[in-house]
Amino acid sequence: MKQKLKDILELAGNEISVIRDAKSLEDARVKFLGKKGKLTEVLRGMGQLSKEERPAIGKLANEVRQKIESIFAEVAAQVEKEALAVKFEKEKLDVTIPGNRRGIGKKHPLTQAIEEMEEIFIGLGYDIAEGPEIETVQNNFDALNTELNHPSRDEQDTFYITDDILLRTQTSPVQIRVMKSSKPPIKIICPGRVYRADTVDATHSPVFHQIEGLVIDKGVTMGDLIGTLKLFAKNLFGENTEIRLRPHHFPFTEPSAEVDVSCWVCGGTGCRVCKGEGWIEILGAGMVHPNVMKACGIDPEVYSGFAFGMGVERAAMGRHSISDLRLLFDNDLRFLDQF
Ligand code: PHE
Repeated sequence: MKQKLKDILELAGNEISVIRDAKSLEDARVKFLGKKGKLTEVLRGMGQLSKEERPAIGKLANEVRQKIESIFAEVAAQVEKEALAVKFEKEKLDVTIPGNRRGIGKKHPLTQAIEEMEEIFIGLGYDIAEGPEIETVQNNFDALNTELNHPSRDEQDTFYITDDILLRTQTSPVQIRVMKSSKPPIKIICPGRVYRADTVDATHSPVFHQIEGLVIDKGVTMGDLIGTLKLFAKNLFGENTEIRLRPHHFPFTEPSAEVDVSCWVCGGTGCRVCKGEGWIEILGAGMVHPNVMKACGIDPEVYSGFAFGMGVERAAMGRHSISDLRLLFDNDLRFLDQF
């Protein structure tokens, strides 16, 4: 039996020491130390030994078991170390490799234009007001002194939802909402989307953006309007920009004007961008009509005010020399990324 135990120890030493993975190690453990393993097999024969022999063999068997266990422990440690090394190699992280760049988005050129204009007016002490895109006919036309037979009210020009509700054709109804809900002094701008039944082409879209301005206080004059627009134009288009007012008609202002700025490309001498005119029209403006104030419960004998409204697309296209309005709505990143 002594010999058998020694053989087992030797065999175990040989077999276990070459093992390199956890699975084979576990198999070997079963083979040598398991319930049906080689060592148990030998120990079963102990019953046949004499009383005198038993203690010595028992002691030897224990020693053999301990030795095999320590071989296992040694190899197990080695196997684990190697497995860890493999894992580290596999999961190695090279922090010097350039990363995968994610494109960072930016604001749409129209949003940029709106925010730039807002900044200018905020600097002049204006508040920003907003109104719904679905408006009442009352706010969009009637309260703005627009007679029933005015062409802009025609179904050809305006998207009606019912007889009394429509998609607003201008940001001017926000004036009405603010005048009805607050007392002068009023000093606001209203940026927003507006809708007209226009066919899409290089300069038209059924959806576009306007920024409306409204100032109501005691003693507001046309001079204040001109000064404000001059300051605005110089801020937006450059210090040397001049403005020019041409008489016009809007139902909700009297007197009314269309306002041009000197061409931001040629400075007024005439070029392709201004079509040789030297001037480019950017907005409509005027002194708020007494009827509009009355419709909103403001006494035109006490207060006066001015209003103006401009198209954001036109301003953005002008500044960036964009020749086709559709580019602003196609949302092709190759185009948008340029701004
Ligand atoms: N609402 C006018 C338009 O859409 C612009 C405007 C606003 C004119 C305010 C005068 C005063 O054409």
